[in-house]
Amino acid sequence: MIARPVLAANWKMNLGPHEARAFIAAFAARSPEQRGTTVIICPPDVSLDAARDAVSGRADIHLGAQNIFWEDKGAYTGETSAPLARATGAEFVLVGHSERRHVFGETDEETGRKCVAAARAGLTPILCVGETLAEREAGETERVVLRQLHAGLRGLTPAQVAGSLVAYEPVWAIGTGRTATPDDASTTHRALRAAVGGVLGAADRDVPILYGGSVNTANAAALLAAPGVDGLLVGGASLDPVSWASIVAAGAARAAHR
Ligand code: PGA
Repeated sequence: MIARPVLAANWKMNLGPHEARAFIAAFAARSPEQRGTTVIICPPDVSLDAARDAVSGRADIHLGAQNIFWEDKGAYTGETSAPLARATGAEFVLVGHSERRHVFGETDEETGRKCVAAARAGLTPILCVGETLAEREAGETERVVLRQLHAGLRGLTPAQVAGSLVAYEPVWAIGTGRTATPDDASTTHRALRAAVGGVLGAADRDVPILYGGSVNTANAAALLAAPGVDGLLVGGASLDPVSWASIVAAGAARAAHR
């Protein structure tokens, strides 16, 4: 089973190969190897190779891609397939990140196809779900995230679902400085956990569910302590090796406390 808490960095469209190498060296120097946590760094595809070289020798640091296409190969200019991401050193992949859904128009159905492609290639999907502010204000949070959850995981076998991760990222909290309270996170995580149990039938319900959205060095520990929060997915605050090391240290403290 994957060590938790899981601390995942989403660099988005930042940090090229040289910067990725320098970042990982600076982070690793500040952050001793941990057994009780899983660190995942998701660089842009062009930096995966450099990042893989930079993390070699650190069994606790894993790499993820930020997106894949669902076909394995072919005439799809500009896309990266799951086998290509895997060959470049990724073990994980974000699927259905809110920017994919809301900037690039990715549909629920497409997230399902991407999760299937990821699992087929031996990549672990991190399925991202989250409601917009309007949906939250209309009382639709649970309905929206459960719809996204089912659509994303529907095509996977029970064993593949059990091997996946979920990230709850309220859209209104991403990059806005507005964080869900630990209680908000716990409430939605509880609903997601129950629904994962439903997707899995009687099988393992223990899929890690991460929280994401304006996580920073000041709020990481409280969010990690919230019941049902198994880790964090961090954007802006993961771009600086010092703040990222501090968030990972909060995860290590939480692991020691469990
Ligand atoms: P943020 O991004 O931490 O900058 O809000 C999180 C994410 O989009 O994964």
